[in-house]
Amino acid sequence: MTLRPKPVIDAINQYYEEFPACAGRSIHSLSQKVDEAVYKARNTIKKFVNAKQDKEVIFLRNTTEGINLVANSFPFTRGDVILVSDKEHNSNLLPWQVVAKKKGLKLDVVNSNEDNTFSLDNFREKLSTYQGRVKMVAFGSTSNLDGVSIPTKAVVKAAHKAGSKVLFDAAQTAPHHELDVRATGADFVAFSGHKMLGPSGIGMLYGSEASLSHLNHYTVGGETIQDTTYYEATWEELPHRFEAGLQHYAGIIGLGAAASYLKKIGLKNIEKHEITLNKQLDEGIRSMPGATIIGPHDATQRGGITSFNLAGMEAHDVATMLSASKDIMIRSGAHCAHSWFNKHKLQGSARASLYLYNTEEEVATCVAELKEVAKLGKR
Ligand SMILES: Cc1ncc(COP(=O)(O)O)c(C=O)c1O
Repeated sequence: MTLRPKPVIDAINQYYEEFPACAGRSIHSLSQKVDEAVYKARNTIKKFVNAKQDKEVIFLRNTTEGINLVANSFPFTRGDVILVSDKEHNSNLLPWQVVAKKKGLKLDVVNSNEDNTFSLDNFREKLSTYQGRVKMVAFGSTSNLDGVSIPTKAVVKAAHKAGSKVLFDAAQTAPHHELDVRATGADFVAFSGHKMLGPSGIGMLYGSEASLSHLNHYTVGGETIQDTTYYEATWEELPHRFEAGLQHYAGIIGLGAAASYLKKIGLKNIEKHEITLNKQLDEGIRSMPGATIIGPHDATQRGGITSFNLAGMEAHDVATMLSASKDIMIRSGAHCAHSWFNKHKLQGSARASLYLYNTEEEVATCVAELKEVAKLGKR
């Protein structure tokens, strides 16, 4: 989760203070203001991901909900194959596990290279092994474990050639790298607001019009229909067909404000800043005897993330000490990627995530403090 800038907080407050109504139902003026604000936010997000049409942007709670929507509503048939990587966040693993068990599908895992980078060779091999049975490829486009991004265009090209749809879990891509759904050709892309300066409890699912039209219903209720009788319903058009019930309007508006804020600064600039800081952090951690870093040796391949362990120290103790001594907030544990840690027989790691508001001074403080913490582990 990130800090939130003033324009995002102001946009949320403005909704609650000036037009706290719902969209799409009432004709009074407050409701019309919500309609306009939601329309504007959807259009902003459309541009943020370079989608073709506003209706290809579905607002929902978070990345997890977006992936569950696709997993549960995609028209799989028995024997179809779903491919994930060996580094997936639980949110891009469990929905596929569950649907595979429920519908008699095969879930298979594409192993990464030795250095934890994506293996196109392993991926292509899996596609050819299954000879047209792979119907969904679901990969995290940037890993929350080690910050590594995957070659999205090449993945989509190979998957489409093999007759499969592609979903990218972009929870860690949207905040840190430029997202261009049309350039990559992905069928579905999901991300969350709270990792990109936006509110929590709001996220989005992109789907090309053709891909979304291919899906069955997921959650249904108010907003998803044009008309009902007791026994039948006439369904709404996209995007409302998938946005059931009253929406998180403040969240949608705040997410739009966050996307505008990021665009104004420029994702390329953010990426550059994070890499500069991450190199500094990486160098500092590597200089500590017994420190290990997860992922490729070259810090520039890991965006703004350094996931590490200090010899003789529990990751949770490292995080607790940094928080108590210098107000440095890092994550520790399995980072919702338990399957990867189980495979590698590791308990977890400490993970420092850098963002646009972090500074070289902060990294220097973090490294100095980690050096003190590392001394405790060597006793
Ligand atoms: C790569 C990745 N995927 C999915 C998620 C799930 O995001 P959310 O909890 O917002 O649905 C996260 C968040 O930790 C993540 O880092």
